[in-house]
Amino acid sequence: MKIGILNGGGDCPGLNAVTEAVLRAAIHYNHDVWGIHKGWEGLLDPLPLIELKEKDVDLLRVHGGSILCTSRTNPYKNKTGPKRLVENFKNLDLDALIVVGGDDTLGAARKLYRDFKLNIIGVPKTIDNDLSATDYTFGFDTAVENARDVVLKCHETAEATERVIFVEVMGRESGWIAMETGKCGCAHLTLIPEFPMPTEEVCDRVKAIYQKHGYGIVVVAEGFPMMIDSKDDPKIGEIDEFGHPKLGGVGEFLADVVKKNTGISSRVQIVGYVQRAGIPTAFDIRLSTHFGLKAVSLVNKKKFGRMVALRGNKFTDAPLAEAVSKSKKVDKKRWKQAQILFY
Ligand code: F6P
Repeated sequence: MKIGILNGGGDCPGLNAVTEAVLRAAIHYNHDVWGIHKGWEGLLDPLPLIELKEKDVDLLRVHGGSILCTSRTNPYKNKTGPKRLVENFKNLDLDALIVVGGDDTLGAARKLYRDFKLNIIGVPKTIDNDLSATDYTFGFDTAVENARDVVLKCHETAEATERVIFVEVMGRESGWIAMETGKCGCAHLTLIPEFPMPTEEVCDRVKAIYQKHGYGIVVVAEGFPMMIDSKDDPKIGEIDEFGHPKLGGVGEFLADVVKKNTGISSRVQIVGYVQRAGIPTAFDIRLSTHFGLKAVSLVNKKKFGRMVALRGNKFTDAPLAEAVSKSKKVDKKRWKQAQILFY
């Protein structure tokens, strides 16, 4: 079989590991694997396919970024897009397509399967860990590890200078990265979008933390709503071309408000793109390589329209439709447990 593989959405630690595992499994089962450049973009106005050979993927699993490159192209944004894409898939003589992405990319994969029965298998990737139908997406563990390093370093500065530092992490509207970073980085307070808190309460909590510890570390998720007081609506930022609000800035907003209302010296540290950079953790390499192997096994069985998944300690699969039906949020029970660990 001639299998295509593409990476969509933001880059994410483990993307290259999936590519390596898919290629190794394909060689094992006598398939050819071709990389598609820049996600869906590479199939819409077809860019030359990237030939993948065993020698090209040595040690690839430990490299961050994506050798295939990635984009946030949405084939359904343009009326003719889906048809064009399916024609190109046929013209390229592809028999199957492995799509590695988050909710946007897999959402398009799901529609292409629903509308054209395209031979698609999904692989769940996102540092945000917000996809349903899988307990974990690869990239999340590395993002938490990277963010935790920053938080632990901020403890030193904050304590030495008797300041409060707001550490802003990614995750869109889901608080998974923030919650785990807060726990593993021993934050005094963690703020996530699922459980908004009025700004006056944030000020009160920070004051109490400062009195108790002499400094403070607050982890805040980028999607935590910016509210001046409990009666205000959350401020909504600019909407990007995929319908997602462009997030960021809440750390600075809170640091300013706390400084104004409490007089406590407050600073902000944005973790930013280093969160999704560097060598994937061992957990993410295991997850992404096994996802890659499983994806090829689904191709072998022609179980298209499905996504590989991890449930408990089992690698399994689920319909793409289920995976993109709703985003996975931090629930009340987990949040309550996490509170016990904050200071
Ligand atoms: O979805 C992954 C993610 O890293 C989010 O956590 C973040 O909001 C967004 O991507 C940033 O994306 P971009 O690369 O477009 O700035």
